[in-house]
Amino acid sequence: MCGIVAYLGEKPAQPILIEGLKRLEYRGYDSAGVAFLEGGKIRVQKTSGRISALEAILEKPKPENCLGIGHTRWATHGEPNTVNAHPHLDHAGKIALVHNGIIENYSTLKKWLTEKGVEFLSDTDTEVAVNLIGYFYGKGDGDEEIKRGNNQNKFEWAVQRALHEIHGTYGFAIICNDYPGMLIGAKKGSPLILGIGKNEYIIASDASAIVEHTTQAIYLSDNEMVTITADNFHSKTINNVEVTKDLKEIEFSLEQIELGEFKFHMLKEIFEQPKSLRTCMGGRLDKQSKRVILGGISSHLRELTRTKHIILSGCGTAFHAGLVGEFLLEHLARIPTEVEYASEFRYRNPIIEDGTVVISISQSGETADTLAAVEQAKERGALSLGIVNVVGSTIARTTDAGIYLHAGPEIGVASTKAFTGQVAVLSMLAIELGRRKHLSETNAGNLIEELSAIPDKIAKILEQSDHIKEIAAKNIEKNNWLFLGRGFNYPVALEGALKLKEISYIHAEGLPAAEMKHGPIALIADQMPAVFIATAGPQYEKIIGNIEEVRARGGKTIIVATEGDDNIIPYADHLITIPDCPELFQPLLTVVPLQLLAYHAAVLRGLDVDKPRNLAKSVTVE
Ligand code: M6R
Repeated sequence: MCGIVAYLGEKPAQPILIEGLKRLEYRGYDSAGVAFLEGGKIRVQKTSGRISALEAILEKPKPENCLGIGHTRWATHGEPNTVNAHPHLDHAGKIALVHNGIIENYSTLKKWLTEKGVEFLSDTDTEVAVNLIGYFYGKGDGDEEIKRGNNQNKFEWAVQRALHEIHGTYGFAIICNDYPGMLIGAKKGSPLILGIGKNEYIIASDASAIVEHTTQAIYLSDNEMVTITADNFHSKTINNVEVTKDLKEIEFSLEQIELGEFKFHMLKEIFEQPKSLRTCMGGRLDKQSKRVILGGISSHLRELTRTKHIILSGCGTAFHAGLVGEFLLEHLARIPTEVEYASEFRYRNPIIEDGTVVISISQSGETADTLAAVEQAKERGALSLGIVNVVGSTIARTTDAGIYLHAGPEIGVASTKAFTGQVAVLSMLAIELGRRKHLSETNAGNLIEELSAIPDKIAKILEQSDHIKEIAAKNIEKNNWLFLGRGFNYPVALEGALKLKEISYIHAEGLPAAEMKHGPIALIADQMPAVFIATAGPQYEKIIGNIEEVRARGGKTIIVATEGDDNIIPYADHLITIPDCPELFQPLLTVVPLQLLAYHAAVLRGLDVDKPRNLAKSVTVE
């Protein structure tokens, strides 16, 4: 949540910051701002609204302003207005800061600073942080509590001194008018990357704001900071102990994060799924040996094979992928598996016995609740594994080992290719664990063949995009929808409902189809479309029964069925088909028409698909 970007180099900072903010806009988009050092003073320009609103108020970039910080906000403390927008200045106007995270003890600190005479302008927690730094900066060398070290200037010292008082999470980029050639970044709990280019440095919340300038980066760890000057940078802990960071290659290209021919990232990402799944499964499905090769967790496979308890944890779409994973792991590997909302897991007293394996699922690898669940699992002695998309993200680094999705960057707030990537990884894991237990070579071989056929089948479903658009158009006035599925497709019903809700603001509920008669059937009326996933499989007859129940009450049906199933035609007001596929891999296919349905509904309603209201891509606050 919130995107920060900062630049120090030889070029004018403003265009680089604005470009970076546009790339980070998916992390939050309710207000934005930048600050530069100009003639020995810090100049802040900010506004409510999107980056385009900020651009509209900015003056022409000044070539001499080669140091600056920028921010795009998702409001936590204080409404999204201009005053609450970042950057924030300390009361003396000497220090400016942008922040991603939450200062949990901000009210205590605010009271303390107010008693010392500091005046606050905004309602944010961030203004407390900058004023705390400003307060210590003002005390400077005279502070008897902490003596400044030899390799530390006053600016760094004040930042470190303040960071020791702050509880909560932060990614900070900070400038000071007495240090016109210096930029400081600091991290705890929120991601912070330093891109290292030729005579230039860029700090950002994620690599998308950096990759245009350099692919070389260092990833700060918690309680670390970096001090950057024109020709060098020093990374150290907030206790002023130097740390050596490995230079990492940013693994994605600019092309991957650009829209190309597509109007929205979500549509691009839906259409990328054949490719992203081929990459995800590439080199992992060994058709010769009928095994799945999962290098990232190879040293933990013995423990995984022996475990009697797997917990899958995640939020939102990742949670839904976990539900499919539960079916897969229990079905193929016969390992008792449960799925937990990461946000709930941490606040109860989960049973983690010896040998329990906790697998955390996250596209971004930065979701605060999921990260907290990882930490809780580790504290309790569980083997902690990750299924993560963003390489080098916090969850990827915090778990003991993991499997990357390799889906490429997902920018649209609505998660699409990450879901299919997560389900594909869980499918591969279940096959390999099954193979190590009781699954015969022939069965494993068949499953591997089926899984490798999925990308081509998705490509066929995508050809129905215009047809799905027509279905969306015919139902666009309806404000309440039901999504119903059974077995492996029940989590897909939940995912379909989530997609529709988050981008088109249509109320939707996902349910196991058989549960409908226990209450929700009371809602059925001709104004409520019921989307059924009624594909070939053991529960086909049962779901036909559920469809009959809806139709008998005048409900309208949109049915996702298997190609060639003529029997279903009379039951469907609208029909979408998927190629034939074993039930256990159907979620990889049945989700695609639901993603398209939500996408087209949102576009038809004239909404900004990639930036739905009130949401942000990575939920890095609790
Ligand atoms: O990055 P993560 O996978 O950890 O994110 C989890 C959820 O916040 C995310 O899936 C969210 O529900 C999506 N907006 C759904 O489309």
